[in-house]
Amino acid sequence: MALRTRESLIFESSVPGKIGMDLPHLDVPAAKDTRPAHLKRNAFEALPSVSEVDVIRHFTRLSKWNFGLDDGMYPLGSCTMKHNPRINEKTAALPGFTESHPMAQDIHVQGNLALMFTLQEWLKEMTGLPAVTLHPSAGAAGELTGVMLMRAYHLSKGAHRRVILIPDSGHGTNPATAAMAGYDVVELPSREDGTISFEDVTDPSTGKIRKGFATLVAELGNEIAGAMITNPNTLGIFEYRIKEIADILHGIGALLYMDGANMNALVGTARPGDFGVDVMHLNLHKTFSTPHGGGGPGSGPVACIAALEPFLPRPVIVRETTKVGEGEVATHSYRLDWDRPESMGKVHAFFGNFGIVVRAMTYCLSHGGDGLKAATLRAIVNANYIRKQLTGVFHLEYDTPTLHEIVFDDSIQTKKGVSTLDIAKRLLEYGFHPPTIYFPLIVHGALMIEPTESESKEEMDAFVDAMKKIAKEADENPDLLHQAPTTTVVRRLDETTAARKPILRWTKA
Ligand SMILES: Cc1ncc(COP(=O)(O)O)c(C=O)c1O
Repeated sequence: MALRTRESLIFESSVPGKIGMDLPHLDVPAAKDTRPAHLKRNAFEALPSVSEVDVIRHFTRLSKWNFGLDDGMYPLGSCTMKHNPRINEKTAALPGFTESHPMAQDIHVQGNLALMFTLQEWLKEMTGLPAVTLHPSAGAAGELTGVMLMRAYHLSKGAHRRVILIPDSGHGTNPATAAMAGYDVVELPSREDGTISFEDVTDPSTGKIRKGFATLVAELGNEIAGAMITNPNTLGIFEYRIKEIADILHGIGALLYMDGANMNALVGTARPGDFGVDVMHLNLHKTFSTPHGGGGPGSGPVACIAALEPFLPRPVIVRETTKVGEGEVATHSYRLDWDRPESMGKVHAFFGNFGIVVRAMTYCLSHGGDGLKAATLRAIVNANYIRKQLTGVFHLEYDTPTLHEIVFDDSIQTKKGVSTLDIAKRLLEYGFHPPTIYFPLIVHGALMIEPTESESKEEMDAFVDAMKKIAKEADENPDLLHQAPTTTVVRRLDETTAARKPILRWTKA
């Protein structure tokens, strides 16, 4: 049976008088309305009048037009769309967690505090850094927290450093974060192998010289607060000179921030603290399999060296252990410590997104240390399997060995007038979510593929097969790709107009 292909907005379905709720009659005297007139508005006028049936059918129909992680492979590079194990949902829904109040006294929520403390311990072990906060609610929020820790550290030493160095292969949030925190961003160029260049680089298109890391350090010296490095970078390449970079920065009193949103390529195999990183964030909603589609709740814990710990957001969780006699088992109690005079303050209400923390802890416990390492290795093997299968079919600008993701481009297909966008749209018709496109910016027409460890060989083979068929179609029948998609409920949209002139609010005609 065909799906309905036109769906009105819920506001357009509104019929005055329809109602979808049934509240019990008020059996106490109505409260006096003491709201000042200027704060009053009749919000209900703007809400649609629809029945429960209308609402359920409307949203169910819309959900069937959608493609989600539970429908098939979702190889969105940089986003790490891995399977969300259902056991995570089960634990996060336990009433002891969902019904606890964030303002409860410490003594009443010992289990919750123990869980947060334990996850922090696991993250310390994985990162090789001695302090962690779970407060930030996303990767970018973690970045801002981390950069503000760096600033607090420099200010505590009476230094006003103004520059943060960021490679052109870094994630887009990195320069945005540094600028938001009040720093001047200076770009580090990449070498032809896709890693940070120590030497100056000549831009092939403009002929201009771009200063490399060594030159910038020599010129800017103690104006540099630190560097912010996505590692592995957005090409999926490990910055193999990271320890050297850290040593040089430390030599001028600067710090190294690592964007650890790609930690799914490192967990269990390499610890940033061991290669000189001072502060970093992790994306629990990527690496630790918690749902993050559609801007859902995230969590971007920050890990740092001891010298930055005093500035962490407050409160911090403290574990106290009872002294016991020989042969007795020690017991622990937990409390929130608000007495942190040097703290940078708060970055999120209460202690972060607790439900995501529960899911991540479940993921860690259900995998164990060995399982986490196995997941990392499998994610790398999967990405390299796809790389091997599609090399030659799609062009690979940087052929340095990659870890968890791989960035092809459309330069073979553009010869026939077919672009990355056409390829992505056609892939929808083969039943796959497209990869990330046109990012990272240092690859023209990028197709960034990240299968994660969740995908089986069979699913990856089906994806590879679809990509090969599309490449053949691009060669033999380019127009087919220009028209794509023709079989989905919604065809190709005018994305430029949607981005430039978005209509974000419904108004009555
Ligand atoms: C490398 C990298 N850094 C930072 C971020 C930002 O994380 P968030 O979207 O949670 O703010 C992402 C997001 O996918 C990322 O891939």
